[in-house]
Amino acid sequence: MRVLSGIQPSGKLHIGNYFGALRQYVELQNQGHECLYFIANYHALTSVADPQELREYVDEVALGFLSVGLDPEKVIFFRQSDVPEVTELTWIFSCLTPMGLLERCHSYKDKIQQGVAPSHGLFAYPVLQASDILIYNSNLVPVGQDQKQHLEVTRDIAQKFNNRYGEIFNIPEAYILDETAVVPGLDGQKMSKSYNNTLELFEPANSIKKKIMRIVTDSTPVEEPKDPSTCLVYAFLKLVASEEECKAWHKRYTDGGMGYGEAKKRLAELTNELLAPFRARYEELTRNRDYVEDVLTQGAKKARAIAQEIMEKVRSATGITAGNK
Ligand code: ADP
Ligand code: TRP
Repeated sequence: MRVLSGIQPSGKLHIGNYFGALRQYVELQNQGHECLYFIANYHALTSVADPQELREYVDEVALGFLSVGLDPEKVIFFRQSDVPEVTELTWIFSCLTPMGLLERCHSYKDKIQQGVAPSHGLFAYPVLQASDILIYNSNLVPVGQDQKQHLEVTRDIAQKFNNRYGEIFNIPEAYILDETAVVPGLDGQKMSKSYNNTLELFEPANSIKKKIMRIVTDSTPVEEPKDPSTCLVYAFLKLVASEEECKAWHKRYTDGGMGYGEAKKRLAELTNELLAPFRARYEELTRNRDYVEDVLTQGAKKARAIAQEIMEKVRSATGITAGNK
């Protein structure tokens, strides 16, 4: 099974990205699938206009993936732009993608609402994503629920191409990452870099603690029973504490006699226990840039070999180059 996924370098990684995506990427790698993971820097160009910022975010994702357990011996890890064939395929796909298909995409409208400039690139974003997926003949694409529609567009484009030019592309399946695993932000909305409500993956321990201690809770007095199902602190505890410990906290909430401060302290401790090894590895990698660059270069070489093989078929099938007689 060939697994492929990408993440946009458009901000600092946060624990929502970890529980919602990175952790599953690592699990899939350890299940023995052939995995390709990449940093979608061309996609990020639709929302990041500052070159220095883009470089910084690429760095964050590169170090981030390697810090949380991605093993370059087991996966192909690369930068999207190091395989330029993907933009060539995007043009070819653009010529067979009906406008209506893209006009129906929610993410374009959503992003404009969030303040992203409505460029042609933003509109054509799903076509580039289809190229990312199809150029490596991927079978399985782990993504969040919000990307489901882009996978449908990808399948449509593959089918359209195959109908017109012959069976070249595999039709991939989305592997929708657990919907219930949406990590809340410090304000109770979905955790997202756009909402400024994150616990960053590589943030210093004292800053994590400060943020957790400031989480807003209700004003139920210490002695009274509390409702864990509406408490943000408990929602976070469920992510980082063992099942057994969660049960114990549940009981303490409902029994009464517990202050939120106590739960927050434990939450900060557990969060930092989870993040400490990631942070240490991240710091080690910041001192070892050559290694990171080498991983990406080697990854791109392998990814490009796959892409080039398929592109030769595509050029020939579409009449861009001489056909195979
Ligand atoms: P952001 O919302 O911060 O902009 P992205 O859209 O770049 O994050 O998300 C990258 C990956 O992380 C996606 O696969 C997405 O599904 C996952 N992800 C982002 N935020 C969360 C969250 N709060 N809970 C679970 N998964 C998330
Ligand atoms: N659009 C995806 C996101 O915002 C990132 C992405 C780009 C991607 N190309 C992809 C994901 C190909 C999976 C496969 O999360």
